[in-house]
Amino acid sequence: MTDSTSSNNKLQGKVAIITGGASGMGEATAREFAAHGARAIVIADVQDEKGQNAAVSIGSNVCTYVHCDVSDEEQVKNLVDSTVKAYGRLDIMFSNAGVGRSTHACDQTVLDMDLSAYDKLMAVNARGSAACVKHAARAMVEGRVRGSIVCTASIGASVGSEKLVDYVMSKHAVLGLVRCASLKLGAYGIRVNCVSPGPVGTPMLKDILGYENDEEVDKMAESNYTLKGGVVRPKNVADVVVFLASEDSQFVTGHNLAMDGGFLRV
Ligand SMILES: NC(=O)c1ccc[n+]([C@@H]2O[C@H](COP(=O)([O-])OP(=O)(O)OC[C@H]3O[C@@H](n4cnc5c(N)ncnc54)[C@H](O)[C@@H]3O)[C@@H](O)[C@H]2O)c1
Repeated sequence: MTDSTSSNNKLQGKVAIITGGASGMGEATAREFAAHGARAIVIADVQDEKGQNAAVSIGSNVCTYVHCDVSDEEQVKNLVDSTVKAYGRLDIMFSNAGVGRSTHACDQTVLDMDLSAYDKLMAVNARGSAACVKHAARAMVEGRVRGSIVCTASIGASVGSEKLVDYVMSKHAVLGLVRCASLKLGAYGIRVNCVSPGPVGTPMLKDILGYENDEEVDKMAESNYTLKGGVVRPKNVADVVVFLASEDSQFVTGHNLAMDGGFLRV
């Protein structure tokens, strides 16, 4: 076991990008990466104030904020290039940015899909993930870094749903991306995996459900878990991402790790 796998320093000296890091699971992961000794964490998001505040509260010596709309490939390329320029390499890409619903009608089914709204959602969730994986992988290959790429998929990547059809389709696409990329990048020692959370009480889930208060969201989330006795928090997802990003998972690639309290019943 090397130093990098000892209990609290699993990411010692690593350089990481976290998209969607201004809020929810991305922000929680930025905090965990810092706690595990990452040297540089770049939060990339479109919520500038929240992102800057998160970076400052984690510590500006280790965490910075960059505005990046992942649906724009040029912005993603610049994000990766500027990170490599500033810190010399890229070890970890956590491609996590996402949007939960494309229209106000979160209960839209295949019968009433709004395809313009579908294009916008796919541009972030599917195209954005592809851009992040592509440019992170190119930087790792070029820099000869045996890096780790982690994407946030969802339980919606593995099962169908009557509602939120576009969201479910976008997460199936993320899983397909992870599987394809892991096959190509294995030759370079680069691992590609995804985490698939079940319902977690973040601003996105509140927005999807149209709930006002956190208790309502927690109640709904818990009622969906097989495992009783608590609610999955962003920190729980962050712990799984640390595992996938670190040497603890050194032979794990192409894997979809469910973090859902047993939502997907076996
Ligand atoms: N909360 C859940 O129940 C749940 C379950 C499964 C999967 N997920 C996935 O988890 C990921 C994180 O979501 P969260 O629940 O933490 O929600 P969140 O809303 O707290 O965080 C999502 C972040 O993504 C950012 N973002 C949105 N569009 C972007 C863009 N074009 N470019 C850059 N950043 C952008 C947002 O500004 C926000 O900071 C998403 O991919 C989501 O689909 C969430």
